[in-house]
Amino acid sequence: MKINTKLSTSNAPTYYIGLMSGTSADGIDLALVSFDQNNLLKHHASYYQAYSNETAEKIQSLYNPTNNEIDRAFALDVELAKLFAAAVNNFLIQQQLNYSDIIAIGNHGQTIRHRPLITHPFTLQIGCNQTLATLTNIRVIGQFRRKDMALGGQGAPLVPAFHQTIFSERQSSDNGADVFVVNIGGIANLTFLPATDKQEVCGYDSGPGNALMDDWFSLHNPHSKTKYDENGNWARKGQINAELLTLFLSDNYFQLPHPKSTGREYFHLSWLKRQLTNFTHISNEDVQATLTALTAITIVDAIKQHSPNNEASTKIYLCGGGAHNKILKDTIDKQLVLHYKNYKLLLTNQKDIDGDQLEAIAFAWLAFAYDKKLLSSMSTVTGASKCCTLGNEYLP
Ligand SMILES: Nc1ncnc2c1ncn2[C@@H]1O[C@H](COP(=O)(O)OP(=O)(O)O)[C@@H](O)[C@H]1O
Ligand SMILES: [Mg+2]
Repeated sequence: MKINTKLSTSNAPTYYIGLMSGTSADGIDLALVSFDQNNLLKHHASYYQAYSNETAEKIQSLYNPTNNEIDRAFALDVELAKLFAAAVNNFLIQQQLNYSDIIAIGNHGQTIRHRPLITHPFTLQIGCNQTLATLTNIRVIGQFRRKDMALGGQGAPLVPAFHQTIFSERQSSDNGADVFVVNIGGIANLTFLPATDKQEVCGYDSGPGNALMDDWFSLHNPHSKTKYDENGNWARKGQINAELLTLFLSDNYFQLPHPKSTGREYFHLSWLKRQLTNFTHISNEDVQATLTALTAITIVDAIKQHSPNNEASTKIYLCGGGAHNKILKDTIDKQLVLHYKNYKLLLTNQKDIDGDQLEAIAFAWLAFAYDKKLLSSMSTVTGASKCCTLGNEYLP
């Protein structure tokens, strides 16, 4: 996948745009991709628009039940769609492209609530698809999670089918590697792509990614220029507290078998404050170091569960913003080396996919899969009764 400097404009639309806004509520990621006759994907360009503090706060304030939610959520539904449309329109100007060059936008939207385990499970992504289509004059494919949930699935994660097309080393012999793609966003999700067809592809949320670290960092560093612990420098000043780590790890979510998915309504500052009730004596930096260990250990525990043979060849590709957190990456590495003799800890960039763009690229692929009627969900991943083509279409 190479980035072209000169993009083609022609009479027939050529490109898909993928739009992603993750649970970190940091901003909008946009990826421009095309597909050749063999469905091979090419990534041409990217764009990022950070949210203002005010927008990020509006999103985060809806992660948990509060007052007047319907009015606030549906006003934000339209407000975010306007921001998404502005990002698309600015990007097209920057790239000297026209709306007519774009076949469709694959829009994930912004998750504000995800409840896969209640009696009537639902998931809610806002950033109105119809408004986005109207303001860009481009077809939008959106609401990707709904059909999988209607089929009894978790509606998450949706990226494993895409990961499989890019990263799998599956062979019928025993010479391939077990591959894991680990996306460390607000929540961390991993995809397991087994070396042989004796095992099934699976994927799920291992638990918190950056979310709790971001919450704790922002609470104690309100004047920092970043809303996150850059490179883990603050965590580095603390020590992992073994007792607190054990308490964190005893949370029910980590014991659940997959398929499973979670969200910000669960791993939230209120979750952390509850855990800390009897830990008033430890420093804030120690809490941050222990949260870093929690993310690393829950990721590595999931990897070990699927690839228990410590002699096997295992490749782990990291992506998402957490891959920039040096201490988190080092802690993952230290956990892996305790178990595996023959592993490689990599970044998706080493497979030519920018780890900050992978999810946006995946949603462009999901829009393409919708148009080609490909099965884009994996029922082995989500627990749905069958695989399906995800998404709904919205016309300008
Ligand atoms: N240099 C860095 N050091 C530490 N953490 C980082 C760094 N860069 C990004 N992050 C983390 O990545 C998050 C954004 O990651 P992203 O993949 O966009 O998540 P999401 O999909 O949830 O929006 C930030 O909130 C922050 O926690
Ligand atoms: Mg993000």
